[in-house]
Amino acid sequence: MVKNYAERVYRITGHLPIPRLKFLPSLLQKYTLKAWATPEPAPVMVGLVPMKTLVSAAKGEKPNRTPIWFMRQAGRYLPEYQKIRAQYSFLEVCRDPELAAEVTLQPMRRFDLDAAILFADILLIPEVFGQSLRFDKGHGPVLSPPMHADNYAESLLKLDVAEHFGYLGQTIQKVKRELREDQALIGFAGAPFTVACYMCEGSASKNFINIKNWMLSSPVSFLHFMHTLAEKTASYLKLQADAGADTLMLFDSWGNHLSPKLYEQYVLPSLKWLVAEVQKTSGVPVHLYIGQDSSRLPWVKEIKPDVLAVDWRADMQTVVEATGGKVCVQGNLDPGLMVGDWRSKKELLKAEIDQILTAGSKAKGHIFNVGHGFIPQTDISAVEFVIEQVRAFDG
Ligand code: CP3
Repeated sequence: MVKNYAERVYRITGHLPIPRLKFLPSLLQKYTLKAWATPEPAPVMVGLVPMKTLVSAAKGEKPNRTPIWFMRQAGRYLPEYQKIRAQYSFLEVCRDPELAAEVTLQPMRRFDLDAAILFADILLIPEVFGQSLRFDKGHGPVLSPPMHADNYAESLLKLDVAEHFGYLGQTIQKVKRELREDQALIGFAGAPFTVACYMCEGSASKNFINIKNWMLSSPVSFLHFMHTLAEKTASYLKLQADAGADTLMLFDSWGNHLSPKLYEQYVLPSLKWLVAEVQKTSGVPVHLYIGQDSSRLPWVKEIKPDVLAVDWRADMQTVVEATGGKVCVQGNLDPGLMVGDWRSKKELLKAEIDQILTAGSKAKGHIFNVGHGFIPQTDISAVEFVIEQVRAFDG
């Protein structure tokens, strides 16, 4: 009751009702204390800003509600997104700060979400290696020319990350101006191996022949490539954190195409380095999405992300146990349950949500999400239903 009063006053006036500060301990669960100093003789001023639930969960601080956002929450299932896409290509939207900020904010206006995710793509970064990116209808992304051991050295003479991606910084600043203080903005990039798969194959692939060929025939040059890609990704993520991203997410969707031995030898070193580097230089929590690859759970202790995101094929309880409750987990509802005649599966959907939330509550922290991006047929009312269920769980 008192806490609600304080919250209401804070929302309306931007200040906390000072006489109530004796309730500070409970308020501090909701708000972080921020101090700043002005040149003397003025005293140090102390103000209170609302805590971002997502950041707090990522740090294992157990906020008083489970933060929720969705992978691909901006996109084709939203009519307002389709309206913009009828006029501009996907890449035009990504590269225009005004349009990208608008699309990033569209789901925030519609739904009660704790975080926005920057509208961009994991395949923008290969441009700094001189590859051009296009999306062909029905075929997905195409990167050309494909990268291999012979043209790799030449690619290193290409563009600078900060110069090339200045527009992302502008998008982030625009979005941050519109978000509430308790909402976070997530920046992201692809993990080196996943991006390298697209760079070497030139498009989506089933067998990953080119990348495996490079890895096995010229291992030294391949490891150099992986580390260079990790370095460029670290600069790319630092740019996003400097512009205001509150957390950073790495998508590693394709690591499951390697045997554990090859993964350990060729992928783990650059990924481990990258996570540590980003945590050190950007100072914000790092989420690692490992998709359906639960075989990598034993390495999470070595990679040390702040948040581990898994897809729905992993049982959340098993993930929490395998990571010893030492990492915040993110996920992992099947997005396929939110399409078509989802209402006839309402009870099943509710049970799945409860099971995920119950398992997640035993982890160091839990961020509710889908286990992979929303599919275009996602029903908007199913999204609303899922959010309601998650809010109800926290009482
Ligand atoms: O989650 C978000 O809303 C943030 C933006 C975001 C996009 N892609 C926008 C996008 C993020 C985080 C991604 C990640 C991404 N992109 C991954 C990793 C996660 C995963 O899906 O495994 C990968 C592999 C890509 C590469 C990519 N981008 C592909 C294969 C495709 C075509 C297939 C598809 O889903 O359409 C894209 C296009 C893309 N990226 C769209 C969006 C909203 C669709 C654009 C459109 O048609 O309007």
